[in-house]
Amino acid sequence: MNKYKIKNICCIGAGYVGGPTMAVFAEHCKDIKITVSDINQSRINDWNNPDTNYLPIYEPDLDNLILKYRNKNLFFTTNIKDSIAEAEMIFLSVNTPTKEKGVGAGKASDLKWVEASARQIAEYAVGHTIVVEKSTLPVRTAKTIEKILFDSQKKENNNNKKNQTFSVLSNPEFLSEGSAINDLQNPDRVLIGGSDHIAIEALSDLYKNWVPNEKIIRTNIWSSELSKLTANAFLAQRISSINSISAICEATEADVRQVANAIGLDKRIGKEFLSAGPGFGGSCFQKDILNLVYLCEFYNLKEVAEYWEQVISLNNWQKDRISKLIVNTLFGTVSGKRIAVLGFSFKANTNDTRNSPSIKICKDLIEDGALLSIYDPKVSQSQIEKDLGIKCSDQFLESNSGTIYYERSIEKTAEDAHAILILTEWKEFFNINWDLLIEKMKRPAWIFDTRSIIKTNDAKKSGFNVWQIGNYCNSYL
Ligand code: NAD
Ligand code: UGA
Repeated sequence: MNKYKIKNICCIGAGYVGGPTMAVFAEHCKDIKITVSDINQSRINDWNNPDTNYLPIYEPDLDNLILKYRNKNLFFTTNIKDSIAEAEMIFLSVNTPTKEKGVGAGKASDLKWVEASARQIAEYAVGHTIVVEKSTLPVRTAKTIEKILFDSQKKENNNNKKNQTFSVLSNPEFLSEGSAINDLQNPDRVLIGGSDHIAIEALSDLYKNWVPNEKIIRTNIWSSELSKLTANAFLAQRISSINSISAICEATEADVRQVANAIGLDKRIGKEFLSAGPGFGGSCFQKDILNLVYLCEFYNLKEVAEYWEQVISLNNWQKDRISKLIVNTLFGTVSGKRIAVLGFSFKANTNDTRNSPSIKICKDLIEDGALLSIYDPKVSQSQIEKDLGIKCSDQFLESNSGTIYYERSIEKTAEDAHAILILTEWKEFFNINWDLLIEKMKRPAWIFDTRSIIKTNDAKKSGFNVWQIGNYCNSYL
């Protein structure tokens, strides 16, 4: 038991998962030194910035934890070598995006960052080290990690230098962005997979500082890896399901919110994750389903692969149909028309834009010649420029080729606009004063509410034509 006493933790990867997760560990494991290490110097500088407005990611309540524990028992560094060497437990929280080229391109996860981390651990670890997969990984990745570590262990032990031994566990993370701290503080469950039961209990003991034991599930390592992919696939499938129904609602005068409420009251279905929208975004749903599809194909399960692939096809179709609907509604073209875009992040309460449906929808409108004035409370101008592949213009010019403007308020975006397009459900978009806004706009003025958050009657009273996802209110057509 003693050989698994944890006094130092290292987390490799200071991203959306590594940073918040280790901040919560720091709060509940005060006698453990936690070091989050990353190869990205500027990211580490941001984590260490005394002004928490510059933290690399925005998450409600994250700044408080960082201020409380940074440089007490929580450290951010690029010194990966030392943080690995002193750790008895190492979390792998590196990125695992979809592979862009080579075998499996477009579907398989790119594991080069995981492999590189495993090799770093093999090089620098000393004594017994528990290596915990926190990243989302294809089933059987632990085999690759073990191969790298165990071969190193043999070599090192032959040279009798560092006395290396390893246990590998899977402990996938289920946090959602925007509510990461709350999710980490009050998880529905903690999943730990592995075969070394002492190592599993060493990790459970840390969680038990704040998570009741009955919420800590122990499984074999493959079930744990597969459960993470399956959870994301099921969640994404619900969104594609409700989005498919949103289209039927619009065609039949049903209201998708009423349908969602009616079906969600059935305990077997449940009410969460039934909000129709512009399609799911974020860094994980698409990549994890693609990964699942790749695995199915690898194991010759063609029908299963096709089944899950359809969740993504529907998601792409939803984004596509929204941009087409906007162009068609605005009399067949948006060329030279100013459109106020409210929200750019893939969901509220985060500055993350990875795979945001806003990117595809904005690109389609730019392609058609729209002038987009974009406002998001947390996403920076440079991020929007990077995602859309064009620079923001400073002056408002008459133009028929797609242009973007970065605005700092809802009111500014609306000036001379033909339409308001709501793409993210930020709180501040729920109760807009439509009377004031319409005064700044061209007529006829339109609202396209892809998140179903506004009170359509109020907007209509102010003189707007309103389209809302899954809601038959397009009587102007
Ligand atoms: P991220 O891109 O924000 O962060 C990953 C970090 O790892 C980067 O800062 C990168 O520089 C660093 N890194 C890569 N290789 C490294 C190396 N060899 N040594 C040190 N640092 C290295 O990614 P993320 O969003 O935090 O996701 C990480 C993993 O967690 C992914 O597998 C993802 O699927 C999974 N996940 C993400 C979320 C989420 O909400 N973002 C939730 C659950 C699970
Ligand atoms: C998702 C899962 O919810 C987490 O459990 C998981 O840990 C994480 O992926 C991951 O593995 O990365 P996240 O992507 O942060 O979390 O955010 P979600 O709340 O799941 O939203 C994903 C997308 O679906 C967003 O674009 C959101 O707007 C959309 N969504 C969500 C809907 O359109 N409707 C809904 O009812 C819910």
